[in-house]
Amino acid sequence: MQTSLLLMALYLSIPGGTQAFKPLISGGGSITHRDITQRAVLRKTAEVCRALAAAQGRDFSLPIDDSLSIIKLQKACSADSSSSSLVSTILFQSAIVKMYLSNALVDMAFALSKAHHFDGETFQGGRALITAGVSEVKASVKRGSFLLARLALGRVCHTLQDFYSHSNWVEMGNRQPYSTLIRPDLQLVNLAGPSTPTCRSCMGGNCTDNILPEVLQQGLLTSGYFNLFSSNKPAGKCSHGGSFDRTSGRDPEGGINKDDVGSSHGHLHHTAADVAVNATMELLEDIRGAAGDKGFLRLMDITQSSVLCFVIDTTGSMSDDITEAKRVSFSIIDSKRGTQQEPSSYILVPFNDPGFGPLITTTNADIFKQRINALTASGGGDIPELCLSGLQLALTAAPPSSEIFVFTDAPAKDTALKSTVTALIESTKSVVTFMLTDNLRSSRRRRRRSMGGASAVWPSQGGASNRMAQSDAQLYRDLAQASGGQAIEVTKEDLHRATSVIEDASDAAQVTVLQEVRSPGKAENFSFTVDESMRNLNAYITGGSLSFTLTSPSGVSQSNSEASGPLGTIQTVGNLHRISLTTHNNTGLWEISLNSLESYSLKVIGQSSVNFGYHFVEAFGGAHGDFGLKEGRPLTGDNITLLVSVTGGDSVTVTAVALVEASGSGSEVNGTLQLLGGTGGGDFLVTVARVPQGEFVVRLRGESNSATTKSSPSLFQRQVSTQIKTSSISVTAQADSTLEPGSTISVPFTVAMANGTGGAFTVRATNDRGFTSSFPASVSIVTGEGEAKGTVTLTAPASTSSGTDVTLTIEAESAGAADLNYAILRLSVVSKVTDFTPPQCGVVSVSSNCPADCGASYWQLSANLTDGANGTGIDRVTLRQGNGTLNTSTEVGTGGENVTRIEYSATCCSKKVELVVVDRAGNVGVCLGSVKDSVGVVVSSTAQASVTNTTAVPVVSTTSTGGSPLTLSLYLRICVMLSLLLWKRVEL
Ligand SMILES: *[C@@H]1O[C@H](CO)[C@@H](O)[C@H](O)[C@H]1NC(C)=O
Ligand SMILES: *[C@@H]1O[C@H](CO)[C@@H](O)[C@H](O)[C@H]1NC(C)=O
Repeated sequence: MQTSLLLMALYLSIPGGTQAFKPLISGGGSITHRDITQRAVLRKTAEVCRALAAAQGRDFSLPIDDSLSIIKLQKACSADSSSSSLVSTILFQSAIVKMYLSNALVDMAFALSKAHHFDGETFQGGRALITAGVSEVKASVKRGSFLLARLALGRVCHTLQDFYSHSNWVEMGNRQPYSTLIRPDLQLVNLAGPSTPTCRSCMGGNCTDNILPEVLQQGLLTSGYFNLFSSNKPAGKCSHGGSFDRTSGRDPEGGINKDDVGSSHGHLHHTAADVAVNATMELLEDIRGAAGDKGFLRLMDITQSSVLCFVIDTTGSMSDDITEAKRVSFSIIDSKRGTQQEPSSYILVPFNDPGFGPLITTTNADIFKQRINALTASGGGDIPELCLSGLQLALTAAPPSSEIFVFTDAPAKDTALKSTVTALIESTKSVVTFMLTDNLRSSRRRRRRSMGGASAVWPSQGGASNRMAQSDAQLYRDLAQASGGQAIEVTKEDLHRATSVIEDASDAAQVTVLQEVRSPGKAENFSFTVDESMRNLNAYITGGSLSFTLTSPSGVSQSNSEASGPLGTIQTVGNLHRISLTTHNNTGLWEISLNSLESYSLKVIGQSSVNFGYHFVEAFGGAHGDFGLKEGRPLTGDNITLLVSVTGGDSVTVTAVALVEASGSGSEVNGTLQLLGGTGGGDFLVTVARVPQGEFVVRLRGESNSATTKSSPSLFQRQVSTQIKTSSISVTAQADSTLEPGSTISVPFTVAMANGTGGAFTVRATNDRGFTSSFPASVSIVTGEGEAKGTVTLTAPASTSSGTDVTLTIEAESAGAADLNYAILRLSVVSKVTDFTPPQCGVVSVSSNCPADCGASYWQLSANLTDGANGTGIDRVTLRQGNGTLNTSTEVGTGGENVTRIEYSATCCSKKVELVVVDRAGNVGVCLGSVKDSVGVVVSSTAQASVTNTTAVPVVSTTSTGGSPLTLSLYLRICVMLSLLLWKRVEL
């Protein structure tokens, strides 16, 4: 709820000053935006899980209150609640982190915007931001752009939550949310006029009573004025308060904000925060209505499973590879269908030359099967293909930290995209593994004879007959290495033996214990710790002409020549060695002694609920402020802060987070850890004084107390294998988060050199949708000036569907490609929304004949749903409560409008029905109906309908707890003996 970055610094500079109210980091018992967002998300998600569980006849006994934790909730939401199943919360946790980091960013990016914080009585402006943001969230969810939806949701939540801290809503005695803020169809009323005085000076520094009594009596809404630079404010108006706010020194002195317990109205801090939690839940309920329950859970990413993502070359020589991609994906789909491990979605990007795409993304396994089945290999005369264009699409479409598999047998033609693809890999932390196949029958036959040992290598050195030369394969190796993936080189014939890595990756709760790359190769001993939580351990070693020996914690060894030995089985195919470690008695410190002069990679993975994710963050305005998300490469030699989220619950203690140099120099830099308080748990800030030279990865060590063994804690290690590069260049860019179809957005960017030197920088601006853009080919920094500015324009074609996301990468490269950095912007294309009116529900008839013995009797409801003359039309009707049958049909009403007729029929044992009706703009109406015992009359339809229509609006617009039994019973009292149907206008 804090307003400004400068504020933070000032608070901290005040001797004995109060803790600043922070977006992320709490102090002195104050509640942060992070806490509020997390509490609301957990509670609303729990409600949705409970509703789904009820619909599926499952138990859901978890109490829905502030004792909810991420792990408890994820377990309760899981359909497979057997205690032995692995629970990984990494995706859910990271969705929440994305939301609150985006929430926190509003304080940095919009520090001086009044409307973003409801400062200075900007109620219309603040509400307009909420309305636009909610439209963006709904449009993004509808298109499946969940990352964009989370970021937009975080921003909306910030503004909504600030209202309760910065306005006098709670001072007026309100303890429920101000629902009008999320109801653009309603007027904001009782706003204090521009010249209405609202405050008097605080008395002796005590601001408890500084809002004018008449303002409170009349219920006039006001909020505090705030200014960093000037003490000007309209006469008689309240200030925000605090020493940073210059207006609070002018009469009327003092302020009214409730940002933290030490604020002017700190005595109401917790009250305001509690109402803000409920307001956030109300907003989430609206999003839930538009998204549907399953869509809402996808937005929250409360899933165990990963996506299955293939990028496939479809040129003529690829038919064997396509067949294998089909086989392995069908096998994964069929073996996991209906289980917790079923992929959460499927992504397919074909490419060839001259085309790539279309991007296929679906949650429906059968559609994916159809699409992959329809792939055929054809064409592609000249060899290079548009591989990186296809990969770029997959990287922006897949959720962050996905594993992407690329199948090809040809070099990439679009090598100019290498730096863009690398930037996307770094930003998304997705892992890219290449399945590179040799397509020549002659060499295949030759190789078959020479295979059979661990030393088979592909492609043969200098083999002129291969489609892909070593130098071409190197591009793929570099990208695999940057992402922590592998470049698996194998004959087409043997491809089916290498695709077990895809099946491994599709198992739930995959974690990486160790990933190392040596290029060029050298003899080296690697060690790694296996902990008790781990199952199904696999080690992959890729590389040519190598030998290795594995040694277990108890001193048993096995070399690469023993395909089946005491420590596990070793399968060798092409340049891949896949070692499946036996799972008993393997905790402790392992060693792999590896020897090769060619480049190689080593990766140790397994399944565990203990894992971590991280984001780079930067302090606002320098010193001791709060933190916002930082994208792009860290500055060489600079300090850096990471926000690290650890999964695994209370049993996990983190002991070290280190940046480890990727080259194998052995150097690693430990960060200092600061546990973030609040309801989250498991979130740390890690500060590293100086980032290592060269590329590095992030590794975490800790101790876990396994629930099953009461012995001493077990050590564990995890790694995120994305290789982070550093840069002396910084690229920053900012833009509105949305643009309309057919419009052009200007994105100003700044290129700066950390060391003050100058020079010319090549600029590249690339987007994944092929939108037209313009940008300067280069910018120059005059030595001593430190920075240069430019502008990228991006035009969304008029035909772009609302909710489409577009990822814009702006790169600046120094002369000779010596250094490069980038900014990544994720924007949504959102059509202008003019329909803010929820669908209406009018009863045609209700018939009931429900005796005391309910089982054998039925009741029926028939109603007309309309979206008004200017509405976008009804998109979806779903049954949220009631286990009767619902039939819908469409007809044209008397006024020519479309009417959706619903017929609902249920046994008298199921007395309530709740229908969620959504129009094409995402406005949500809820239709409630119920029947009482022994009513036994058929009600005349016309009378009923008119009564319902005229009474419904006032009934529902006064309450915020809609859908609750309370609303229903209130309505029942109004409609006494009519058998009843309540049309409730909206959400909550
Ligand atoms: C401020 O004034 C109110 C009454 O006006 C009183 O109840 C409260 O205790 C005072 N607070 C402090 C800190 O003096
Ligand atoms: C928030 O809502 C919960 C129920 O959903 C209620 O128990 C609680 O009292 C509400 N909090 C406030 C401050 O109104």
